[in-house]
Amino acid sequence: MKPSAIREILKAPNDPDLISLAAGNPSPETFPAQEMAEIAAGIFSRNYAAALQYGVTEGYEPLRVRTARRLSGKYALGREFDQLIITSGAQQAIELSAKVLTNEGDVVLCEDPSFIGALGALRSYNVRLAGVPSRDDGSGMDMDALEAALKTTPNVKLIYTIPTYQNPTGSVMPEASRKRLLELAKQYDVMILEDNPYFELRYDGEYIPPVKALDTEGRVIYAGSFSKIIAPGIRLGFALGPEPVTQKMVVGKQVSDVHSNLFFQILCDRYLEQYDIDGHIEKCNALYKLRRDTMVESLQRHLSDKLRWRVPHGGFFLWCERLDNGDGAEFSAAAKAHKVMTVPGAAFLVDDTQKSPGVRLNFSLPNPAQIEEGVRRIAAAVERI
Ligand SMILES: Cc1ncc(COP(=O)(O)O)c(C=O)c1O
Repeated sequence: MKPSAIREILKAPNDPDLISLAAGNPSPETFPAQEMAEIAAGIFSRNYAAALQYGVTEGYEPLRVRTARRLSGKYALGREFDQLIITSGAQQAIELSAKVLTNEGDVVLCEDPSFIGALGALRSYNVRLAGVPSRDDGSGMDMDALEAALKTTPNVKLIYTIPTYQNPTGSVMPEASRKRLLELAKQYDVMILEDNPYFELRYDGEYIPPVKALDTEGRVIYAGSFSKIIAPGIRLGFALGPEPVTQKMVVGKQVSDVHSNLFFQILCDRYLEQYDIDGHIEKCNALYKLRRDTMVESLQRHLSDKLRWRVPHGGFFLWCERLDNGDGAEFSAAAKAHKVMTVPGAAFLVDDTQKSPGVRLNFSLPNPAQIEEGVRRIAAAVERI
């Protein structure tokens, strides 16, 4: 196993002049800290025994029920055969899926580039990752290429996909492709792991239902997260999938961390009960849309002769590619010399020894002034490339 390129970048020196467009962090301005402080005081004065005691591995029952109800009511997610368990972030839902569904040497098909944390989790179980090319039009995994891979690759167990506001590319898989994905998974009898932490962070474009909402036969394990809509430090996410699978995940979780942090599970449940999460998400989206627009305008002003990009309709990232198809790492290194951190596209590749013309820019954490200054500095840094 190797350290994640992004975690290493996050360890960069704490220089106040440094602008990070590298991390995938939500803006702390969106964290409901005041509300949480009030709820926390109540928990410590009235429910401390429940919050500080051991709990069950599946998760705090009221939070499980509330989350499952919200997902089924608002997004038609989850059927009678499904079960929702609370995990320590979507990251753990992914890791547990790999743990229970794959054996050493099995193949997992995924988008290429894809989320480093998931690739790392899958690699840690010695599976073979096989990248499926994405389409050039921003519509995500190419279903013809997926079909070809399923036809020719033995031992495929799982298709890992981030269909909405993909990390790192921002792509969105159209509904027709989602239906075809399910059909192909059925035809070749493989499971789908749908990683969907960004789908509620939509700034424009139409709503497309998650693959899980179309899953009538229990083929999809859905990894969700409170990280981007409440706060990532609470480390809470969930897996929603067919009960025989989630029950094995519970066994796998028992030996990992027994259960997710109970104090924050109770706090999260009370927050969802007492406050308007949908209203909160709307406010987050207004803030992030402004940041995305600022980044797009800055790029247009300073870098349209060097980079191409597609405006993401949601999520946290803008994926750029060099017009000359040169190495994105060269761009990132030049930007770093001007104190702007970015992530070179190669870090997200299934085979990260390959080169990529891509660079991932994050617009959720930096404020608009930092975004403008960051892009201006990148343009100056890469002038001679
Ligand atoms: C696509 C994707 N999946 C999962 C995660 C992990 O999220 P969590 O904080 O819920 O573990 C991230 C975090 O950046 C992500 O980008």
